[in-house]
Amino acid sequence: MNEIERQAVSRTVDSTNAREQVQYQSGFGNHFVTEAVPGALPEGRNSPQRPPHGLYAELISGTSFTAPRHDNRRTWTYRIQPSVVHRPYARIDNRSIRSAPFNDIDATPTQLRWSPVPVPQESTDFVEGLVTLGGNGDVAMQVGIAVHIYAANRSMTDRCFYNADGEMLIVPQQGHARLVTELGIIEAAPSEIAVIPRGLRFRVELPDGPSRGYVCENYGPMLRLPELGPLGSNGLANPRDFLSPVAAYEDTSDRCILVSKFQGNLWAAEMDHSPLNVVAWHGNLAPYKYDLTRFMVIGTVSFDHPDPSIYTVLSAPSDVPGTANVDFVVFPPRWLVGEDTFRPPWFHRNTMTEFMGLLQGVYDAKAEGFLPGGASLHNCMSAHGPDAETWERATRAELKPHKLEDTMAFMFESRYAMRLTRYAIESSELQHDYFEGWQGLAKHFRKPSS
Ligand SMILES: [Fe+2]
Repeated sequence: MNEIERQAVSRTVDSTNAREQVQYQSGFGNHFVTEAVPGALPEGRNSPQRPPHGLYAELISGTSFTAPRHDNRRTWTYRIQPSVVHRPYARIDNRSIRSAPFNDIDATPTQLRWSPVPVPQESTDFVEGLVTLGGNGDVAMQVGIAVHIYAANRSMTDRCFYNADGEMLIVPQQGHARLVTELGIIEAAPSEIAVIPRGLRFRVELPDGPSRGYVCENYGPMLRLPELGPLGSNGLANPRDFLSPVAAYEDTSDRCILVSKFQGNLWAAEMDHSPLNVVAWHGNLAPYKYDLTRFMVIGTVSFDHPDPSIYTVLSAPSDVPGTANVDFVVFPPRWLVGEDTFRPPWFHRNTMTEFMGLLQGVYDAKAEGFLPGGASLHNCMSAHGPDAETWERATRAELKPHKLEDTMAFMFESRYAMRLTRYAIESSELQHDYFEGWQGLAKHFRKPSS
């Protein structure tokens, strides 16, 4: 075994056996520099005539060459063989993965909620376990999103995946997801999120076995930190809490199937080595993870419930300022102290479409029925809000300072209405009695006698 092979084995084995040994680099969108073998990164130039250690130089462009500098994302990789070394692609079954436009069934304004999708009994890996609930926009136009659930029980072993259709925001709800990417390894636990850039090759391992989570596939411009406006230079998600991997590579001669999601379909190509063969890289296009418990929650210290945009972790813009292709919003444990205030989320109709999931505990607008691993959809301009029991309790509550504990809900919020797949609407997890929770909101109006 030569030195490079020893390094590769030690990195892989270390991260498999000891989670705490996975190393990261800190900062959102930083220009990272990392090498798994000393001297593997060229000095002073990107593409020398002969890169060190017999490696190939390859550029991955996450934005157009001419994107403005503050938006521009690209990474130079130094790899054992270039990514182009594989057999031709052939179509494979899409299984339950669907892409926009979603025209199978009529879009519905009905408020919908789903119970958690069960993890299958049969052997299922991350890609096989992806089930699309719906989405919006058009994958070919790079507009909109798709929302998927993954429910899987087996690590990917002899195959890797990349998604040419969008970046993938992965939200584990049950079980760790270990994302072995061509730029290194990310371990994402429930209450953490991971983002895989468009086109990056990766494999998902499930060290805890049966696992479930949510995926927002963002066809549009990549997610970024929201503007802070009058909040100033601190708050919400702090840039240094976003962690990207250090270089780690595999030097194998084992057969690998590379699965590609391209223009809504799955394709597979065979290769005789691992595509995760990057020994060193530098650049600002990288996967990352973020611990949602590090989110600095901001709320009222006087009265009223601020708009939920104060909970925005990441935002992917559209062509209308302040109107996101998709926002990722999180509702962590927090203090409620508002005086003379109805403290749960208010009744609401919204031009933006709200898809919600629950990672743990209870969401403060719903007394029951919204379960960890479940989901709800309130489409463009569809009325929603606290259920009758929550309203009753909140209007009578003694307004002393109160901490919401054991809760972690999130929202994918998009400017475009969400259209559902046939699976989502015919699923046995769809709660047909969801509307009942609001029917007990009785009429209390009494016109004062003059
Ligand atoms: Fe809302």
